[in-house]
Amino acid sequence: MNFVKKEIAELKGNPFTQIGEDWYLITAGTKEHYNTMTASWGFMGVMWGKPTFICAVRTNRYTYSFMEESEVFTLCFFEKAYRPALQFCGTKSGRDHDKAKETGLTPIEIDGVMAFAEASRIFVCKKCYSEMMKEEAFTESAVYDKWYGTDPLHKQFFGEILAVYEKE
Ligand SMILES: Cc1cc2nc3c(=O)[nH]c(=O)nc-3n(C[C@H](O)[C@H](O)[C@H](O)COP(=O)(O)O)c2cc1C
Repeated sequence: MNFVKKEIAELKGNPFTQIGEDWYLITAGTKEHYNTMTASWGFMGVMWGKPTFICAVRTNRYTYSFMEESEVFTLCFFEKAYRPALQFCGTKSGRDHDKAKETGLTPIEIDGVMAFAEASRIFVCKKCYSEMMKEEAFTESAVYDKWYGTDPLHKQFFGEILAVYEKE
């Protein structure tokens, strides 16, 4: 699998493009029972003195229940060739599809957490805080209406980044 563990300080790239334009997969659960979904919202930075990644998962995603039940999760980033796979994982639900089988992605365990062999970078995260967004916390009702007029709110999952792996 030729993943090499990296220090946070060694990471390269722009988080806005890596998250918002290139997208990534959020994966949680066990080898026997896990799920993955595409995300293009999120944050990487520092929280409570630790390298931290924050994901926002709507409560109607199948992945949501896995995030609720799991103490750890992974975030997998890919080269552009995997865009169709990420498109699939972001438009189909694991309730109805075997996403790994249908995309050709290879599920692997890394540090005991599920991820994908084809990723170019994997963050292994430990859930340290989670919080539902609240309608009353929005300062602009237009933003709330645009994103949550018909769809449920997101829950934010903060993950302490325990390890980062990259392909050599
Ligand atoms: C580019 C892209 C980005 C997405 N970003 C998010 C996100 O940040 N949070 C979220 O809850 N859903 C996001 N989604 C939607 C989920 O990936 C989608 O609903 C998925 O089918 C959920 O799968 P699941 O039901 O197996 O969990 C995104 C979808 C796409 C295509």
